Amino acid sequence: MGTKNSRLQGFYQLNPFERLQMVGAFDGLNDQDLHALHGGSGSLSIERADKMIENVVGTFNLPLGIATNFVINGRDTLVPMVVEEPSIVAGASYAARLVRAGGGFQTSSTEPLMIGQIQLVAVAEPVRARDAILAGKDEILALANAQSLSLIRLGGGARDVEVNFFESSPMGPMLVVHLIVDCRDAMGANAINSMCEATAPLLEQISGGRAYLRILSNLSDRRRARARAVVPPTALTRNGISGEEVAEGIMWAYAFAAVDPYRATTHNKGIMNGIDPVLVATGQDWRAIEAGAHAYAARNGQYTSMSVWERDADGNLVGTLELPLAVGIVGGATKVHPSAQAALKLLNVQSANELAEICVCAGLASNLAAMRALATEGIQRGHMGLHARQIALAAGAGGSLVDTIARRMIEERNIKPARAEMLLAELHGAVSEQIESV
Ligand code: MEV
Repeated sequence: MGTKNSRLQGFYQLNPFERLQMVGAFDGLNDQDLHALHGGSGSLSIERADKMIENVVGTFNLPLGIATNFVINGRDTLVPMVVEEPSIVAGASYAARLVRAGGGFQTSSTEPLMIGQIQLVAVAEPVRARDAILAGKDEILALANAQSLSLIRLGGGARDVEVNFFESSPMGPMLVVHLIVDCRDAMGANAINSMCEATAPLLEQISGGRAYLRILSNLSDRRRARARAVVPPTALTRNGISGEEVAEGIMWAYAFAAVDPYRATTHNKGIMNGIDPVLVATGQDWRAIEAGAHAYAARNGQYTSMSVWERDADGNLVGTLELPLAVGIVGGATKVHPSAQAALKLLNVQSANELAEICVCAGLASNLAAMRALATEGIQRGHMGLHARQIALAAGAGGSLVDTIARRMIEERNIKPARAEMLLAELHGAVSEQIESV
């Protein structure tokens, strides 16, 4: 284990400014990075936003939290998460602590290979055309690689050509050519799309057909990241429930998701609860990854759990999560958004693969946290505190009144907007009376 320690005890009890100082001390982030993480003037300017998308009128803030306790391949890691939902950061941190007790997460990943698709229709002799395309592979790859010098400079590029023949479709037969592209540290969408568009005329010429769609596939099933976590049952003991009992409950929760798509969808949503916030924090295309992850979960013909859980010979809970994860650390929003840059710096990743591996760890942690809660006290208890604070905020409370009103509603077991408004009026009244009597 390195010298840094992500087990920041009492972190949650600090105020945001104190937490930021602690994060800065963890990884030697400079003031500019901390400003960028903190938001406000250090984050995305309107001028930059205006260059990112169309019709910009402003920017939009979300909370950025830090998940603690992660040890990944022996390295302590603080994980930045941008998300609106309470309990996700706390849940991931809690589960990472459980995994820490079993030695931390172990990860691996495949080569960053993506697929670009070119659809060819009206091909008179599809079998002959397929052979001709495969025979012309070198020329096709050379043309593809002439499109993206920056990808070549990174050590990537188009590596192979494959052809699929669909004998029938709602419109008739078609050939679909796959360009297999090594994206290295780029997400790769732009390079792949350029390659598809550039090679389409040559493919038309070789096949005698007509090219319609030329676009990457978001089912990036050759670009996968994998995480494995071992949790000793003793670490799961809580609130008078034995670790063994909790482990058994978690295994039943997993079994439910393994067989039932209705449950698998929610179970997998809990996994993406851990992944998406890291993607947002680091400026990734999270829609692409959502699409690919869910398609991958149905790869055997039935939609099922993205994660796999089992017990090993020593009774430990062992979880694995393997997903397609097309992320980049060069180009795109990662380079333009100051907060995304600071988040990447905090993660201290040297490659896109390393970032993808952190994402699957966060996903597996969220999954474990959700299953543990669901199999024991239920999900609502953990939600209560932050939920009550959100209701108090929505009712118009500010400053210390937020916590006071939230506490009262929890004590009364009555966490409702109407009650928050009533308490706010009551407490405001009390404050005004105090001011008048001074
Ligand atoms: C809520 O955001 C996520 C959960 O529903 C996940 C799950 O059910 O496993 C708690």
